[in-house]
Amino acid sequence: MALPPILKDNLRLPVVASPLFIISHPKLTLAQCKAGIVGSFPALNARPEAQLDEWLAEITEDLAAHNANNPDRPAAPFAVNQIVHMSNKRLEHDLMMCVKYKVPIVISSLGAVPEVNAAVHSYGGIVLHDVINNRHANSAIRKGADGLIAVATGAGGHAGTLSPFALVQEIREWFDGPLLLAGAIANGGAVLAAQAMGADMAYIGSPFIATEEARASAEYKQAIVDAHANDIVYSNYFTGIHGNYLKPSIVAAGMDPDNLPVADPSKMDFDKATTGAKAWKDIWGCGQGIGAVKAVEPVAAVVDRLEREYIGAKKAICG
Ligand SMILES: Cc1cc2nc3c(=O)[nH]c(=O)nc-3n(C[C@H](O)[C@H](O)[C@H](O)COP(=O)(O)O)c2cc1C
Repeated sequence: MALPPILKDNLRLPVVASPLFIISHPKLTLAQCKAGIVGSFPALNARPEAQLDEWLAEITEDLAAHNANNPDRPAAPFAVNQIVHMSNKRLEHDLMMCVKYKVPIVISSLGAVPEVNAAVHSYGGIVLHDVINNRHANSAIRKGADGLIAVATGAGGHAGTLSPFALVQEIREWFDGPLLLAGAIANGGAVLAAQAMGADMAYIGSPFIATEEARASAEYKQAIVDAHANDIVYSNYFTGIHGNYLKPSIVAAGMDPDNLPVADPSKMDFDKATTGAKAWKDIWGCGQGIGAVKAVEPVAAVVDRLEREYIGAKKAICG
């Protein structure tokens, strides 16, 4: 099935920049869209909730002005991430804001809910749902999602354990709609590889933490530059859900990254009393692909690099 125009037109590369808790904000999202890839942010990053209205107004107006001034190179569309989980008390409000601003792409995470899909479809938007296995993928499509984000092993933040080859292969056996692949994709060759294995687009998060526009501390950005795949630990201790985190941040919080306790899955935050550290703010989420990140750069430079590498990889393979 062909990709819907919103995932194709105005894109320089088949890439969606994934939503990053705390880190993504309008400045980062706008830079991603203007660089020619889909930019995104989690609705929960706008705090208090009234700020979401302001952020969506800012992004909508800024992109409209950019497009009017650059008709030959309009910006890519943007996406808002909704966490569909009982701990998210703002979901109804945040969804109403997406309807108000006709947010072109909504990324739903954790729960797949028909009401979220219906609300987004009411104004012509599309919903991409992220999954870590084929069973959840099937359920998300049955409940009305338009496309899937297959989150494979090595992804930053909450991540799965399946090989991208296995996950894409199983989903592609029955699903011919929009399929994105996530997990340690950090260079243009890997974007092409995602397409070669059957995905339509790559979904990239961690490399954008080390950008000038990201709302992360200088220490966090530098840790992304310094770290490699071996510095990533997979644990459910911090949020109750398994995810990948930077070992140095765990050590700095006074814990042994190689001997973490197992969490209570009913909690979304770990017991801070013992360490004073907070998941995401002090315990830094990160995927395994960051060996490709050599410096803190503007988003535009990262996208230029991805494009150069993507074109280079295509030439190397196809001639
Ligand atoms: C620091 C961090 C925060 C994240 N926050 C969110 C989030 O709020 N919502 C979400 O759906 N995914 C979140 N993710 C997961 C990403 O959207 C995406 O699946 C992941 O970054 C892809 O893997 P990569 O980092 O190896 O590119 C987060 C990832 C990281 C590294």
